[in-house]
Amino acid sequence: MKSIVFFSLPGNESLMDKIACKTNAKIGKAKIHNFPDGESYIRILSDVKDKYIVIICSLNKPDEKVIPLYFLCKTAKSLGAKQVCLVAPYHAYMRQDQIFHFGEGVTATYFAELISGFVDGIITIDPHLHRIKSLSEVYRIPNSVIHATNGISKWIKENVKNPVLIGPDEESKQWVSLVAKKAEAPFLILKKIRHSDTEVDISIPKVEHYENRTPVLLDDIISTAQTMIETVHHLKKVGMKPVVCIGIHAVFSGNAYQELLECGVAQIVTCNTIDHPSNAIDLSHELSMEVQKFISRL
Ligand code: R5P
Repeated sequence: MKSIVFFSLPGNESLMDKIACKTNAKIGKAKIHNFPDGESYIRILSDVKDKYIVIICSLNKPDEKVIPLYFLCKTAKSLGAKQVCLVAPYHAYMRQDQIFHFGEGVTATYFAELISGFVDGIITIDPHLHRIKSLSEVYRIPNSVIHATNGISKWIKENVKNPVLIGPDEESKQWVSLVAKKAEAPFLILKKIRHSDTEVDISIPKVEHYENRTPVLLDDIISTAQTMIETVHHLKKVGMKPVVCIGIHAVFSGNAYQELLECGVAQIVTCNTIDHPSNAIDLSHELSMEVQKFISRL
C-alpha cells in the first residue's frame, strides 16, 4: 500500500480535508507564507521521505499560485518524496487553446508544459476542452479528468422541479447534453458571440414549449458572469421563469457574483472546485476515488 500525504495551498483546505478523510490518508504540515516583498516562503514540517505527495491546489488566479506550488513540489522532492501529484480541481488557461490574433501564443500548451516540468501527475475536473480535445495533447505526464456531470444531475434532480437545461454556447453542449440525459430533462443550446472580455451577445431559439419549465443555465466556467447575465436577460424577455444558474467552476472575477445575483436569478450553484459561497455540489467523493486509483498506477 502506497503511503500518501496530502498538502494544500491556501484556499483549498476544506476540499483537502474531505478528500484526505475519504482516502484515510495523512495531512502534512507546511508553512506557506508571503514575504512583505511578495516573494513566497515554503517549509515542509512533516516527513515526506518515500511518500506519495498529493497537493490540492485549484488553479484559479494561476499567476500568483504557480510559484508557491512549484516551491512546494520541489521542496517535497528535495526531502525525498517519491512522486508529487497535483489535484487542480480547476485548470486555468485552457480557453487560450489557439492563436486568435497574430502575435499570440497557445498559452494552454505553455501552461501545461510549465506544470509538467515539476509535477509527476495531474488530476483535474472538467477542464475547458474545446479545440484541445484531451489533456494528453498538452501534458507529457500522467493525467486524469473527472467529470462533474453526476454531481450536477443529482443536484438538479433533487432540487429543481420540471427543469429545462440551457447551454449558452456550442462549447457547453458536451456537458449540458450529458447532464440533461442523467437528469432526464430536455436541453437547449444557444448561440454566443463574444465581442471582448466583458461583452457577449446571446441568441435565444424558440422556447415556447418550455415556458412551464424552470430554466437551468449550465456552463463550465463563470468568470465575468457576462455569459450568464446576458442569457438571463434574454430568457426573462421571452417570458421564462427565474433562472437557476449552475457553473462547474466558480471563478467569479471582480463583482461578477454580485452582478449575477442582482439580475434576478432564482439561485446560483457551483461545484466545490474553487472555494466559494455558491458551492453546493461536493465532488470530494469523485476526487478521493480518482486519487487512490491514480496513485496506485504511478
Ligand atoms: C467559454 O467558452 C466558457 O465555456 C464560458 O462560457 C466562459 O468562460 C464564461 O465566461 P464569462 O463568465 O466571463 O462570460
